[in-house]
Amino acid sequence: MKRLPKDLIITIDGPVAAGKTTAARLLAERLGYCYIDSGTMYRALAWKAIQEGIDVSSPTMLLDLLARTELEFRPGPERLRVLVDGEDVTDALRLPRIETASSILSVHPSVREELVRRQRQLGIGGGVVMDGRDIGTVVFPDAPVKFYLTASPEERGRRRFRESPHGTGSLEGTLAEVERRDRRDMERPASPLKPAPDAILIDTTFLSAEEVVKELESHIHRKLRDPRDFLLA
Ligand code: DC
Repeated sequence: MKRLPKDLIITIDGPVAAGKTTAARLLAERLGYCYIDSGTMYRALAWKAIQEGIDVSSPTMLLDLLARTELEFRPGPERLRVLVDGEDVTDALRLPRIETASSILSVHPSVREELVRRQRQLGIGGGVVMDGRDIGTVVFPDAPVKFYLTASPEERGRRRFRESPHGTGSLEGTLAEVERRDRRDMERPASPLKPAPDAILIDTTFLSAEEVVKELESHIHRKLRDPRDFLLA
């Protein structure tokens, strides 16, 4: 199979629990690329806001917080590690309250603008697989390879429930939270979640992680063979 250039930017967008993280991480590993999980940035800001008791619905307070907080992102093959004022908080970012707060604060255009600037800096040299909600539409609209992963809301709710710490919440509650986050992410005026016009849509409802990655790889290699084929796919 033809070798990939080392400096491509590959974007993977999609709703919560569509399988982006697993697919992006596996794909980055196979290509020898960095995996950058942009949601981690929104989560890191949410973590800091909660620590300081800051209202995540106030863009002014969040921008002030961003200005006086040192956020360091260290891309790697596994996932983006995040240091907030020198402390590695990556493992704390998966808590449900951080997830909800990150979705709420991500509606503010001024907050997005600042985080998008940092995402572009991280991706600038290429050789990255970046996932999120607006990576193909806003952050890297000229990326040569874009994917949009999705799955049925029921399947995504079930996945989220399986991943949640044992004994917390119910399946119904998790499904309702997935739907709330979908609405917030898709209906916000600033960079709403939607597929880029040139993104390849993949429904992962009935696919294993391995099957998803195979599909991503075959699209990428098809593009390398003949870019026109790719556009018509
Ligand atoms: O991908 P995630 O679940 O870690 O993202 C957490 C929240 O961050 C998500 O609900 C919306 C926001 N987000 C965003 O608005 N844009 C991105 N590129 C990534 C995440």
